[in-house]
Amino acid sequence: MEKYVKLINNDLEDAIRALNTPETLRKAMDYSLQAGGKRIRPLLIFATLKAFHKDIQLGLPIACAVEMIHTYSLIHDDLPAMDNDDLRRGKLTNHKVFGEAFAILAGDALLTYSFQLISEIKDLSADKKIKIINELARASGPEGMVAGQVADIEGENKSLSLKELEYIHTHKTGKLLSFCIKAGAILADADEKTEILLNQFGYHIGLAFQIRDDILDIEGTIDQMGKNIGSDLDKHKSTYPNILSLQGAKEKLLEHMKAAEKILENLPLDVKQLSFITDMVVNRNR
Ligand code: IPE
Ligand code: IPE
Ligand code: MG
Ligand code: MG
Ligand code: MG
Repeated sequence: MEKYVKLINNDLEDAIRALNTPETLRKAMDYSLQAGGKRIRPLLIFATLKAFHKDIQLGLPIACAVEMIHTYSLIHDDLPAMDNDDLRRGKLTNHKVFGEAFAILAGDALLTYSFQLISEIKDLSADKKIKIINELARASGPEGMVAGQVADIEGENKSLSLKELEYIHTHKTGKLLSFCIKAGAILADADEKTEILLNQFGYHIGLAFQIRDDILDIEGTIDQMGKNIGSDLDKHKSTYPNILSLQGAKEKLLEHMKAAEKILENLPLDVKQLSFITDMVVNRNR
């Protein structure tokens, strides 16, 4: 794990260094990228490739791209107009250091650069690049993460149904995590049946990840999380603990974990690392 995290950190550093861009923008992009994210999305791509006994190098540029999109989503999520948070990954949020204008632009740049990176991969067929770019855009754009963020904000100060809340969580968080598994499957030439099962696995993992995030907003510590606790309550957000109670949210989390594990059991793949990440998603404290 540590080795993989180092690999992705180095590649992200190189990608930013390679840019011909104003120094202010480079610094703002690099600041949030290198602030100490867990890199769970890259790890999911690598674990999926490992399940097919493929070289993880194959997934490295796509892992960088996903981490850039994820980081952009956090920079914007923390802005005063959105969740208005001042701590992220154990450091001041991007806008607190660089100002709102540059935080917005650093986010824009990370989003756009991610697609540039994938389009410029040397040893990947044009067909696969298009497929991956399409899936990434679907997962992060107006039918994916952005849709979830809109629903999240529209859901403030309201009591939503479980179905409405599931929509928020699968979109704002689940789809990008699911993308990582999908990308691994595309790179590894998975057959259709395996791809369907992996997609179902991605759904459960993605939802479980955000349910755990909601729980940690109550039970976590600032030191471990690197972000403020109680932020959801302050902003009157709809969350799983809010709708189901803390205990109910924990039960839901376990349900999704069990469903995810069951799918892994039925996959004719080497699922050791996927199973490790499942455990990490459910039991994480940061
Ligand atoms: C935080 O994501 C935002 C959510 C989608 C819950 P992570 O918990 O993956 O944050 P980092 O990347 O480790 O900082
Ligand atoms: C994050 O949801 C979703 C995205 C950034 C897309 P949250 O608003 O719950 O994430 P945190 O808790 O600020 O990390
Ligand atoms: Mg938010
Ligand atoms: Mg937030
Ligand atoms: Mg949260």
